[in-house]
Amino acid sequence: MSALQQRVALITGGNRGIGFETAKKLGEQGIKVVIGARDQHKGEQAVAELKAIGITAEYVHYDAALPQSPQAVVAALQSRFGQLDILVNNAGILKEDLIGQNNSLTVDQDTLKTTFEANFFAVVALTQALLPLLQRSPAGRIVNLSSILGSQTLHSAPNSPIEAAKGLAYNASKSALNMFTIHLAHALKDSNIKVNSAHPGWVKTELGGADAPMEVSDSWKTSVRLATLDAQGPTGAYFHEDQPLPW
Ligand SMILES: NC(=O)c1ccc[n+]([C@@H]2O[C@H](COP(=O)([O-])OP(=O)(O)OC[C@H]3O[C@@H](n4cnc5c(N)ncnc54)[C@H](OP(=O)(O)O)[C@@H]3O)[C@@H](O)[C@H]2O)c1
Repeated sequence: MSALQQRVALITGGNRGIGFETAKKLGEQGIKVVIGARDQHKGEQAVAELKAIGITAEYVHYDAALPQSPQAVVAALQSRFGQLDILVNNAGILKEDLIGQNNSLTVDQDTLKTTFEANFFAVVALTQALLPLLQRSPAGRIVNLSSILGSQTLHSAPNSPIEAAKGLAYNASKSALNMFTIHLAHALKDSNIKVNSAHPGWVKTELGGADAPMEVSDSWKTSVRLATLDAQGPTGAYFHEDQPLPW
């Protein structure tokens, strides 16, 4: 691609919550945004909202629960753009009640498997499938929506602010995602692609719940910063806004 071509960003789970806000802010920077959503109606509705405020946006079907989804996304992006500059792996699920809970003694296999499916296995599969398109970008950026709850350092620290929120499936899926960030950044260290983990904050969304202190309108900051890093920016790192987090 030429440096003058409009950048293309795919945001999975971009139809609502943090993903939608991220798409909006990337779009406002002149980046073409592709909303990856499992529900066509919701995806197209999000695209219509973005277009109504002057953003170039498209929909692509993406369902983290479908093994064939990554190849279909690749085929769609390949034929429409032939490139991908930014991948925001934002789609995620939380099936546990986190606050004040430690469910290590009781969490069931279905919760563990479905959470890992969406938050980890699907992210690895989609990212691997999209790498050839990202490698065509002069400055590929991959943002993995982790969480501070994936920090093993903070979970093991006495009196840590996240000590009480011990939902094993969600937290372990985000720790695994962090490991993917580290390993993928290492594998791509001699390339133009940067890979980082983001903690957006505790955000008032369906996933974050009504008690979260951060409004969804502020939730895009970490993802957008990591999606638009310049060549000097970090890779293989874990951030909340501009603050590095301990793994
Ligand atoms: N909210 C927080 O406080 C917080 C804190 C730290 C990290 N995060 C992370 O930030 C990301 C976004 O969270 P959010 O708070 O914006 O959540 P949200 O409002 O619940 O939105 C989740 C998004 O993921 C999509 N999704 C869920 N399962 C999917 C699947 N199988 N295939 C495709 N898309 C799927 C949803 O699509 P549907 O509309 O079809 O359900 C929705 O677009 C998640 O990875 C989350 O773990 C959130």
